Amino acid sequence: MGAAAAVRHPLLSRRPRPGEFIAITIFSSLLITYFAYVSSWTNNTFASSSSSALVSHVPRMEGGNFVYPPVVFGHVHMTKTAGSEINGVLSQRFDRVCGHKGYSYDAHSVSERTGGGYENITDSIAKSHPGFHRARVPLSVMNEIGYHDCDWVSHEAPKHLWNELADQIRPWPLELHVPCREPIGHLMSQCNHLNRNFQCKDANLTKAVRSCLLDIGRYSDSMGLHENITVKCFDPIPIENYVKYMSHYLQPRRIAAPYVHIESNPRPRDKTKECIWNRPDSFKQEVLNIMMKIPYYRFCSRCMGSNDDLLAIKP
Ligand SMILES: *[C@@H]1O[C@H](CO)[C@@H](O)[C@H](O)[C@H]1NC(C)=O
Ligand SMILES: *[C@@H]1O[C@H](CO)[C@@H](O)[C@H](O)[C@H]1NC(C)=O
Ligand SMILES: *[C@@H]1O[C@H](CO)[C@@H](O)[C@H](O)[C@H]1NC(C)=O
Repeated sequence: MGAAAAVRHPLLSRRPRPGEFIAITIFSSLLITYFAYVSSWTNNTFASSSSSALVSHVPRMEGGNFVYPPVVFGHVHMTKTAGSEINGVLSQRFDRVCGHKGYSYDAHSVSERTGGGYENITDSIAKSHPGFHRARVPLSVMNEIGYHDCDWVSHEAPKHLWNELADQIRPWPLELHVPCREPIGHLMSQCNHLNRNFQCKDANLTKAVRSCLLDIGRYSDSMGLHENITVKCFDPIPIENYVKYMSHYLQPRRIAAPYVHIESNPRPRDKTKECIWNRPDSFKQEVLNIMMKIPYYRFCSRCMGSNDDLLAIKP
């Protein structure tokens, strides 16, 4: 995973940790422009589709018994949002985690076998489905297992699957968690994953932005239209904040194992080679304007800092 972005998400209202003040000062002028931009956007178009808060911080335990969370959680794994780490860590620490990047029930053995290397896993899923294994579970296998015994499901899959999942877990509602990073840093991270250099000099900036997007359609505004699905957002980096949040709802495993990191970046990211960081704020703003035409980024900009932001500190 790339290092935490230097620029915080402009709309994130969580209190910054000490080291972050410097970054915030440096980029404050960008933030101000962006705030102005976003508030104009918000005033015009925002129609809240998911404002009904299904989840409140209920105690997990009651009289010594585990209390099921009031919803089943769905993690919409957007590319380059620390999703594999989040899935991996949750599956090691908590029960009934069902993810493309791993399940609770076999997580301990997976990390023992993995031992830091990932490509050579030869478990029974790898034998029947080349290119996959128990820490990268094929969708067909996930569907075959079913989702009836899941409190938290992570998919890197087409958006319509969430509707099918909502049917299967009835009468429990589904609460989708969409990770939102600071947008420009997220774009650069996708460019890097695709082994592409973002071309600041491209005469057609829209093309330059779009050529870096990776499975951006895993989010769709239509996901919030199902009557039993609500959609929330959160800042996924550092992942500990979200893991801590989920620890209020998920049941600790009897035997927890440390998560074995699996490298998913094809090449390390070198921010000094990314032209955009040396460009003036007006240029970054231009890139942001293009990004805000994409439903996922538009959703993030209106959700982060709102009541639907899981990690925002609420007054
Ligand atoms: C994976 O297997 C290949 C070929 O057997 C070997 O060269 C490589 O070192 C292995 N990788 C790990 C991380 O064990
Ligand atoms: C939503 O859940 C309720 C309660 O289980 C169910 O009656 C209803 O049919 C569900 N709606 C949809 C669209 O599946
Ligand atoms: C810029 O690129 C976009 C996306 O590839 C394309 O739709 C648009 O027509 C291009 N604009 C110009 C002026 O070439």
